[in-house]
Amino acid sequence: MIQDKELIVITGGAGGIGTAVAKTFKNQHIIITDYSADIVNKAVENLKDDGYSASGLACDITDKEEVNKLVKFVSESGKLKALIHTAGVSGTVQDLEKIFTIDLKATEILVDAFYEIATNGSVAILLSSMMAHTVPANEAYDDALTHPQKEGSFETVRQYVQEDSNLMYNFAKRGVQLVSINHADKWGAKGARILTVSPGVIETAMAKKANEEHPEQMEMIKKATPLKRNGSPEDVAEVINFLSSDKASFINATDILIDGGVIHNIKLMMSSNKGD
Ligand SMILES: NC(=O)c1ccc[n+]([C@@H]2O[C@H](COP(=O)([O-])OP(=O)(O)OC[C@H]3O[C@@H](n4cnc5c(N)ncnc54)[C@H](O)[C@@H]3O)[C@@H](O)[C@H]2O)c1
Repeated sequence: MIQDKELIVITGGAGGIGTAVAKTFKNQHIIITDYSADIVNKAVENLKDDGYSASGLACDITDKEEVNKLVKFVSESGKLKALIHTAGVSGTVQDLEKIFTIDLKATEILVDAFYEIATNGSVAILLSSMMAHTVPANEAYDDALTHPQKEGSFETVRQYVQEDSNLMYNFAKRGVQLVSINHADKWGAKGARILTVSPGVIETAMAKKANEEHPEQMEMIKKATPLKRNGSPEDVAEVINFLSSDKASFINATDILIDGGVIHNIKLMMSSNKGD
């Protein structure tokens, strides 16, 4: 009987990190959602074959109507324990508005919609990125990043990214952190938490694509990582599992970096490139 079970909803549930996250939930019902029905069905079948309790629904997270259908599906399936939002695209997409819309605007669409079914003990865990930490706080664009659905927000942010899709990705991921903080009081009033997780380079299809585009840059990041390796999807998944449990019940409205310690060295390299 699903109705009594606590539900773990994973967006991007067919992706690299999403799949690894799902596999950490042996005792809860998992709802997989992703862009197309084909990949959702395949992911659900794979989980069931491995003995997991899982179901799924396709949803384009940029489409409010589809997100509302997803929320209805979840509420009819049981009680929301965790929304784990891993769906996203990287700078390799080369389309500034697409990156802003999928990575940031859709994040707030999900947060708004899932707030309706969040209850005491629920949690939303949103995937940001270590690269968000390279974008400084600045009142010139932080309001637009905090309110990505507000008219003109994309145009405001666009002025600061020099038509560079990787920079837009970094800004959008800073926005994910600001959205999480901005919604924390509202979620907290229900006894629900909301926070972000910022992975470093994690070996999934997304990182593979980035590696094909900028092999020297990716090698430099690996060399600059104190642990001298990239992360695995499991490195991130286990932390997310912990954060979604009641063991993490006072971790809220913050960001958890899972980057092998590299961001400090990246920031040093960026500032020495600027000559300061
Ligand atoms: N892999 C890394 O190195 C890395 C590093 C930092 C942050 N992240 C973040 O972690 C998250 C997961 O990354 P990943 O490596 O697993 O990526 P991935 O490409 O393997 O998975 C992303 C999933 O999101 C889905 N998706 C994309 N657009 C969608 C849409 N409009 N609606 C619904 N689903 C959509 C894709 O179909 C895909 O299954 C992303 O938000 C990413 O930005 C990844």
